[in-house]
Amino acid sequence: MTMRAPLLIDTDPGVDDALAILMAHQHAEVKGLAIAAGNVGLRHTVNNALKLVDVMGHETPVFPGCATPLVLDAADAAFVHGADGFGDTGYSRSTRAAANEHAALAISRLSREFAGQLTVVALGPLTNLALALRLDPELPRRVARLVIMGGAVNGRGNTHLVPAEFNIGFDPEAAHVVFSNWPTFDLVDWEATMHHGLAYDDLEQWLAADDERARFYASVSRRTRSWARQHGRQRMLSADALAMAVALDPSIIVESAERHVGIELAGGLTRGATVVDWEQRMARPANARIVLGVEQGKFENLIRDALGAA
Ligand code: BDR
Ligand code: CA
Repeated sequence: MTMRAPLLIDTDPGVDDALAILMAHQHAEVKGLAIAAGNVGLRHTVNNALKLVDVMGHETPVFPGCATPLVLDAADAAFVHGADGFGDTGYSRSTRAAANEHAALAISRLSREFAGQLTVVALGPLTNLALALRLDPELPRRVARLVIMGGAVNGRGNTHLVPAEFNIGFDPEAAHVVFSNWPTFDLVDWEATMHHGLAYDDLEQWLAADDERARFYASVSRRTRSWARQHGRQRMLSADALAMAVALDPSIIVESAERHVGIELAGGLTRGATVVDWEQRMARPANARIVLGVEQGKFENLIRDALGAA
């Protein structure tokens, strides 16, 4: 059962971020979009967020955040999402302005305004959240729930460093700050994403809905849908949509495991890996509820609703 709970989304839109943001506005009270660089540079991720707010007809504030990872530069994912992060469709730019408050400060402020109620959903590199934590170490006490899309819990990542997933691999130091200071969070990783793909035919049917959101998402996702087919993916994978489904409706989780998860910072082949203490040998308390499976039907219903498809 989904609720109209207050939600704050930290994100780097990004095609699958866009779908997650549509889902959130359908089912929750979205208090803000905190924007990071990741899939593409910050100028584009901010513009894409502003455009989405227009398409949805909402007034959600957009808070620009960190333009680079905390320590080392990292490669973006424009080869998947397009140079502008939204499939290079040439959409007309939004005329609305971004908020004049840094994303990290907005995260801290909103956690005070909605103390004990706010769910934070992190769909991009964790740079803004790490900075917010350093500025405001009491932040986790005021946040009701944190859901992170990131990691590859058995080492099957999706970047050139084999075990690293993109969001963690883009800014491992930020992930380390969050994973080692946030007492407990839900983790939706790349491997769960691979188990919960969407059939292309179903998705195309939903995208044919007579709804502005479906038309816009059909347009910006065209490139990634064809990229996925060309790369032999049997189904369309949408990591951020899966994480958002878990945030909106925790009852869809059918399998999970609570374990300690750390971040590898230094490995030559493993920088950015999420290292899970599966056998619980480290005697460290579990920080993550790792989502291993969800009810596919409920996940798909949340997407359909957000696209206005029957
Ligand atoms: C994650 O990386 C990005 O490309 C997607 O938006 C998602 O957040 C998946 O690894
Ligand atoms: Ca993302």
